[in-house]
Amino acid sequence: MNVYDSNRMVDILSEDGYENTDKLEQADIILLNTCHIREKASEKIFSELGRLREISKERKNKGLNTLIGVAGCVAQAEGEEIMARAPIVDLIFGPQTYHKLPQLIKRAKGERVIDIDFPPEDKFDYLPAAKPNNIVARGLTSFLTVQEGCDKFCSFCVVPYTRGSEVSRPAEKIIAEAKLLVSNGVKEITLLGQNVNAYNGTIRGGKRINLAQLLFELAKIDGLERLRYTTSHPNDMSDDLIGAHKDIDKLMPYLHLPIQSGSNKILKKMNRKHTKEQYLQIIERLRKARSDIAISGDFIVGFPGESEEDFTDTLELIKQVNYASAFSFKYSPRPGTPGAQMKEQVPEKLRAERLSKLQAILNEQQLNFNRAMIGKIMPILFDKIGKEKGQIGGRSPYLQAVHLEAPKELIGTIGEVKIIAAEKNSLKAELVK
Ligand code: 5AD
Ligand code: SF4
Repeated sequence: MNVYDSNRMVDILSEDGYENTDKLEQADIILLNTCHIREKASEKIFSELGRLREISKERKNKGLNTLIGVAGCVAQAEGEEIMARAPIVDLIFGPQTYHKLPQLIKRAKGERVIDIDFPPEDKFDYLPAAKPNNIVARGLTSFLTVQEGCDKFCSFCVVPYTRGSEVSRPAEKIIAEAKLLVSNGVKEITLLGQNVNAYNGTIRGGKRINLAQLLFELAKIDGLERLRYTTSHPNDMSDDLIGAHKDIDKLMPYLHLPIQSGSNKILKKMNRKHTKEQYLQIIERLRKARSDIAISGDFIVGFPGESEEDFTDTLELIKQVNYASAFSFKYSPRPGTPGAQMKEQVPEKLRAERLSKLQAILNEQQLNFNRAMIGKIMPILFDKIGKEKGQIGGRSPYLQAVHLEAPKELIGTIGEVKIIAAEKNSLKAELVK
């Protein structure tokens, strides 16, 4: 979602004549869009700010001013602290106030500014549509936020505090944004939300619409070839949505459905509000609806109170589900969350040991999943020039990176390829059609 938000920040600044640059030394404004989900993500910004201080100094010697801002969830949660610790920062704003960027930047030229409100207005009503050349520059695939925030309050997670409570965007606005993307070359859209499958918006004069219905509406857009959505909570995996996987061809057979732990005791302490058995049942129903669906997940090891037995339960669950890929993390106590207050914190060394054991299994599953593609014919969205001469690259329905020898004129189209080799992070293919 930070990628999406950053693009929207560029969109609103484009209105004032700013252009995106990937050369820091050229930038008059540098905005760090930050993530607070784990401590590691959040610590990065202070080292990054150190680097920016040097760049700003060099620019100053040339008579150039540089405005430095910190955006996103670290700004939201630790704005005051960043201001105190990093004098170089001119502007702090949160994930719900970036629609005010033009005014904030004007003010920040005169004084240090901090805006981490949760304003009553919806930022999306104030953000301008992306300029066609910005969309084209971003390529064939795009994110599109449909829902933000979270009311679930898992006991390890900062999201409900930093992004705020659940809000769904009106369907008409989402459909209009999707059409704009598609008319500028986008072929694949990933709908985003912290709890995307809790989407509960309105359409046609206030009628309620859920994610499954929204997917049906979006699938009607000519020229849009592929749809995805992320991230989902098991409790919002409705019959409707499971059915959509059967009925919507454009919906890719690949679902990110985190469980975090395979121990019911830990799931309860995490306040996930579901059991391992319920999760497994959902997977079964999904596989019944769409036999070629692949699953990815998120796991946290070393949550407070996690015993050896609880950890083994997680490994067992992983073996049972057989993931196509997954993200896994050591538990990171986050300020203000119930988990951080819990006794029985698991020592760091044990957390690290468990993570590497768990990742060994997940890596093996990912490699096996990729190897099982060898010999198969698959539709690939060709989206870039390959690393080696004469090669192009693309994405499979399962988001696997695929490379093959083929003319670069095919970029922008979907073609059929035969997979001829597989590694953990990529597939090699031959063009069929
Ligand atoms: N510690 C470790 N991992 C976390 N996640 C969220 N909060 C924490 C935390 N405190 C992970 C979860 C979530 C993913 C986005 O980040 O697995 O699904
Ligand atoms: Fe965090 Fe997701 Fe739980 Fe919400 S559902 S609290 S975003 S882990």
